Amino acid sequence: MKILCLGDVVSKLGRETLQKVLPKIRQEKGIDFCICNGENSADGNGIIKQTADQIFNSGADVITGGNHTFRRKEFYEYLEQNKFCLRPANYGEAAPGKGMCIYDMGRVKIAVINLMGVVFSEAIENPFDTLDRCIENAKDENCKLILVDFHAEATAEKKALGYYADGRVSAFFGTHTHTQTNDLQIFEGGTGYITDLGMCGAKHSVLGIKPYLAIEKQKYHLPVRFENAEGECLINGAVFEVDEQTGKCTGTELVNITV
Ligand SMILES: [Fe+2]
Ligand SMILES: [Fe+2]
Repeated sequence: MKILCLGDVVSKLGRETLQKVLPKIRQEKGIDFCICNGENSADGNGIIKQTADQIFNSGADVITGGNHTFRRKEFYEYLEQNKFCLRPANYGEAAPGKGMCIYDMGRVKIAVINLMGVVFSEAIENPFDTLDRCIENAKDENCKLILVDFHAEATAEKKALGYYADGRVSAFFGTHTHTQTNDLQIFEGGTGYITDLGMCGAKHSVLGIKPYLAIEKQKYHLPVRFENAEGECLINGAVFEVDEQTGKCTGTELVNITV
């Protein structure tokens, strides 16, 4: 089975480009299942009903999230209602929505787990502990395939949790930095891995924001009203080929398209 995972979809440019190219990518590469990170899909940040719907309608089966998922209060109801739209699982039980879902493909059940890092981030539950619990739940539900989006800042934290998951999950990919890393690989235990998928957003930008505004913010440390960059758009991600019998990753392909 071929699984396509795409990095953070950023604003209108990212959404509209995704809508244009995702059906084509799915068809050309013979994709069976697709996950997109949607935490920055709303204009001005966060995620709202309209942008989540647009990502699903473009061809995503599951939307994962991160530190910006809870930015828009009006989205909490959607998080509670749509079990395929996730937020990180290591937020407390009281937080809206769920951090894991099970997608039944008929011939095989897929568990998707969303986690967030705690290095340079919020003091939420240790992701190692949450991962153990989620994998146990997935096994109890007879999920042959387990996929993890680890939304985190520090590369060392991502690698460490990736190795910790090796042999227990089919694919483990990072999001959040919006910058694609050059380390797509299959670990010895059979887990497909990449530190960061990158983003679906403006190529000439700082995380999707106009560069001069990011420079101003970092040079003067004064409040800046961010605006999304336009122009060419990156579609960044990875394809993991997974054996449905063993749950092991057997092949990988980087996705780095400029539209
Ligand atoms: Fe993001
Ligand atoms: Fe993020």
